[in-house]
Amino acid sequence: MSGDLHIGIIMDGNGRWATRRGLPRLKGHSKGADTVEHIVESAPGLGITHLTLFAFSTENWKRSEREVNGLMTLFKRYITLKAERLISENVRVRFIGGQDRLEPKLLELMGWLEAETRDNGGLQLSVAINYGGRDEIVRAVQKLAAKVHMGELEAEKLTEKEIADTLDTAEIPDPDLIIRTSGEQRLSNFLTWQLAYSELAFVDTLWPDFTAAELDGLLEQYFGRERRFGAVAAG
Ligand code: FPP
Repeated sequence: MSGDLHIGIIMDGNGRWATRRGLPRLKGHSKGADTVEHIVESAPGLGITHLTLFAFSTENWKRSEREVNGLMTLFKRYITLKAERLISENVRVRFIGGQDRLEPKLLELMGWLEAETRDNGGLQLSVAINYGGRDEIVRAVQKLAAKVHMGELEAEKLTEKEIADTLDTAEIPDPDLIIRTSGEQRLSNFLTWQLAYSELAFVDTLWPDFTAAELDGLLEQYFGRERRFGAVAAG
């Protein structure tokens, strides 16, 4: 669809933001949740149609039990407190990632918010929880292999589109730009399949300090670049 602008964000630096202030790491995450709200509200005004946020990776389970539980509580609280606003602002919310390790109450809230916002045509917001790009590909391959096994699909006829349509991000266009905050220059298993042609931007700002104004500046830089998708540039 023309006119789409999909931004993916690796929201990094909450822990450092808190530690530098002598605060517990969870304070950084709750401040990070305030930034999420600010960015979600500002995104449509910046021309963003799709926003995908990396909230919790398949690797994040290695963190302390206290931090993991705190993050899960934050996700539940965020959905409960912000649902009404998201619905009234016409945001469609999807969650991407595996469902295997998430607690039933959180899964219930996620399913409820997805259903409540299913018909919303404003900002298409995807939140990655228990998400890993390789894990997403493995789950898709398992589904496709099962289809081949059942005789519903011929292995030789498998296409990129078929794979893309089997990923958690089916229906969502590939990201145009991936942003990572906090100075790290890694992609950390985020949208591994989908970012093949994405532009990348790494900024030093810690996620709790990230603003819509900084996002706007990054978009300006992005539009100053020319994307070629492997073709030779014109002129
Ligand atoms: C990375 O910072 C951040 C996370 C692992 C969690 C992201 C979660 C939020 C922004 C909270 C709310 C999200 C939603 C969708 C409501 P880090 O802890 O790795 O920071 P560090 O690298 O400085 O330790």
